[in-house]
Amino acid sequence: MISGPQSVVLLLLLLESCLRSGSSEYDGFREREGHLYTAVIEVPNGGPWGDWTWPEMCPDGFFASGFSLKVEPPQGIPGDDTALNGVRLHCSRGDAERNTHVVESQAGRWGAWSEPQWCPDGGFLAAFSLRVEEPRTPGDNTAVNNVRFRCSGGEEVEGPGLEWGEFGSWSDNCSKGVCGLQTKQEPPRGLRDDTALNDLRLFCCSS
Ligand SMILES: *[C@@H]1O[C@H](CO)[C@@H](O)[C@H](O)[C@H]1NC(C)=O
Repeated sequence: MISGPQSVVLLLLLLESCLRSGSSEYDGFREREGHLYTAVIEVPNGGPWGDWTWPEMCPDGFFASGFSLKVEPPQGIPGDDTALNGVRLHCSRGDAERNTHVVESQAGRWGAWSEPQWCPDGGFLAAFSLRVEEPRTPGDNTAVNNVRFRCSGGEEVEGPGLEWGEFGSWSDNCSKGVCGLQTKQEPPRGLRDDTALNDLRLFCCSS
């Protein structure tokens, strides 16, 4: 029978090995803008144009419980469609601090922001999938058209984007929730065909 300080040490060792095995899919904690994140989640079907812009993180201890999208409505012929231009994460900490911080990385210049959509029951965003139009030549390319998220409670919430292209496969799940984002944007090209948002990465935090 082990008792006293020895049992405390044993318990701590057991706890540590449980925590390690529970997070073995991640290579530890990484840092971005002074915030610790545990994983980056991505999807395989992003558009080919543009460059990764800057990451933006919710404040420490906050998680994304909702999102909004910047959508350019269909431009008709002979307009230049860009469809989805930006994604905002609405960061919360408990019910008291709901929607007090918004992060968006870089958004394209076209379109208007939608009303936020929320995960039910205080849940957090935990995974995503992108609706992307395949490149066409010649043609009016739009790249990303819409985003759907899965909440930590398992519910799916689809944004109010456009209909071109297909939804691709889901990203991995954040074990607790999303806490930051980074967009890939094609800069404005003047009179040539614009696509704006091409891809999205989300960051997971555990605390
Ligand atoms: C993510 O979580 C959902 C349930 O919320 C599950 O159906 C799915 O298999 C999980 N995906 C991965 C890659 O673990």
